[in-house]
Amino acid sequence: MYVSDIDSQPITLPDLRRCKRDGVKIVCVTAYEASLAARVDEAGIDLVLVGDSLGMVVQGHASTLPVTMDAMVYHTTCVARGLRRAFLVADLPFMAYRDVPTAMVNATRLVAEGGAAMVKLEGAGWVCEVIEALSKREIPVCAHLGLTPQSVHRLGGYRVQGREQADADRLRADARAVQDAGAQLLVLECVPTALAATIARELEIPVIGIGAGGGCDGQILVLHDLLGITPGKRPRFAKDFLAGRGSVVAALAEYARAVRGGEYPAAEHSY
Ligand code: KIV
Repeated sequence: MYVSDIDSQPITLPDLRRCKRDGVKIVCVTAYEASLAARVDEAGIDLVLVGDSLGMVVQGHASTLPVTMDAMVYHTTCVARGLRRAFLVADLPFMAYRDVPTAMVNATRLVAEGGAAMVKLEGAGWVCEVIEALSKREIPVCAHLGLTPQSVHRLGGYRVQGREQADADRLRADARAVQDAGAQLLVLECVPTALAATIARELEIPVIGIGAGGGCDGQILVLHDLLGITPGKRPRFAKDFLAGRGSVVAALAEYARAVRGGEYPAAEHSY
């Protein structure tokens, strides 16, 4: 059983919550344009994220920091046109949620112009005030903790987070805080498997992992990593699902099958 067995109607937030309750893994991937979004939908992926990773994999930047709101709205609109069923989430890019009024304007653009059903933002602490304000005004929020790429300069690179006990304790507290602020979903990136599994168990909201082991409620991959076309060194957690398969849809369907069957991520993809 997976989400699409519910029926062929568009997937909703209550469907995703039901998946967590019933122990059904949620399969997620990024997309940035209509044709590939349509293939993602065809393969039965549950959730599509228009990630600000587009700054790296589409625009060729070295980080996500140069991504603008206009670019996010443009790519979200393109992806929305390609989807019929998957739940659509769009990233608020760097500085687009630096205070509540700015976040309100920009999140509204992603939902009203772009067609997203949810916005994603990175961090906890002061970000909780933004999460609370958006949630109270009916803009569902996905939080993102662990390796938060918009903090790359403070973190000093793209590294696993939460290895030390104090960092792990802070991550658990942050996860609880974003949920309490109203976040309805949490992405955990590059976190040790045991810590991510503990957080997923402790939270009521679905926790989607990337480089966070198999104990999360679902998995997400950047589409280019999944298809093996990301330039440069592939991250440990990524797997080329296109290798040995004949088409993009077959690769996506195999990813979905492996996540739902608990085969991906394996230990070799985890920390
Ligand atoms: O921007 C993105 O693609 C993301 C995923 C890596 C979760 O945030």
